[in-house]
Amino acid sequence: MSARHAGKIVAITGAAGGIGQAIVCRLAHEGARVAIADIADCAETIELARQAGGEASGFKVDIGSWEQMRGFADQVRARYGAALIAVHCAALQFMSAFEELSTEQWRATHEVNVLGGFHLAKAFLPAMKLERWGRIVMVASSSFFAPPPRMTHYISSKGALYGLVRGLAAEVGEFGITVNALAPGLTRTRNAIAGVPPAHFAAVMKHQSIKRSGEPEDQAAAISFMVSDDAGFMSGQTMLVDGGEGHV
Ligand SMILES: NC(=O)c1ccc[n+]([C@@H]2O[C@H](COP(=O)([O-])OP(=O)(O)OC[C@H]3O[C@@H](n4cnc5c(N)ncnc54)[C@H](O)[C@@H]3O)[C@@H](O)[C@H]2O)c1
Repeated sequence: MSARHAGKIVAITGAAGGIGQAIVCRLAHEGARVAIADIADCAETIELARQAGGEASGFKVDIGSWEQMRGFADQVRARYGAALIAVHCAALQFMSAFEELSTEQWRATHEVNVLGGFHLAKAFLPAMKLERWGRIVMVASSSFFAPPPRMTHYISSKGALYGLVRGLAAEVGEFGITVNALAPGLTRTRNAIAGVPPAHFAAVMKHQSIKRSGEPEDQAAAISFMVSDDAGFMSGQTMLVDGGEGHV
């Protein structure tokens, strides 16, 4: 175990698998204790964090509910103490032609992707302000900068996260709290490998400067920096980790 995040408590949404799971393993390996809010079972992530030499625990939370998020914050405080690092990674991701989208699907996407991020930040900010140190990261998407079709609901929700990051960064900087966005490019998570045709991975790679597919660990490495002391002078920014496919 390395000590980059020793003594830090992290609250993260959406880490039962995928990019969130890689983030948990990386931060746990680097000394943080990580509390996960997810509607799915987090046993696999908890075990992988343990194998990485660290500690994580899972809480069943629907992040679209303020009551559940507040309950999560209470439980994290009781178990670990103040979480001064908050990472919003959960998202609903599905494709649909715009005209086929229902109001319910639009609302559900924004409830998880945007409202969930708002709830996480709101629940954990008070402790960060008290300690006069905090790191908030919203995991958004490179699709905002290179938008594919049939994802308008998703791209809209990720765009809202960039707004949240800019506004909140301006408001809480005086308390030593940074707020940033991570914009992953197409990443080889289990779900992406199952759902995205190999031809699409190849097509995206053609536009990348780095000629390999993105891995969850690439995103975790960026997050490790963004939540560290080293990133104390970076706020309101978007870090695009997409192999050089796009440019902010
Ligand atoms: N995989 C990619 O290629 C890619 C590309 C760009 C951006 N991203 C972004 O990275 C993040 C992680 O992506 P991933 O592919 O690993 O996702 P994933 O689908 O594997 O994980 C999303 C997690 O969110 C959880 N979740 C969904 N609704 C929830 C709710 N209401 N309350 C709590 N948890 C909920 C799910 O249970 C799941 O564990 C997302 O924000 C996604 O938009 C991913």
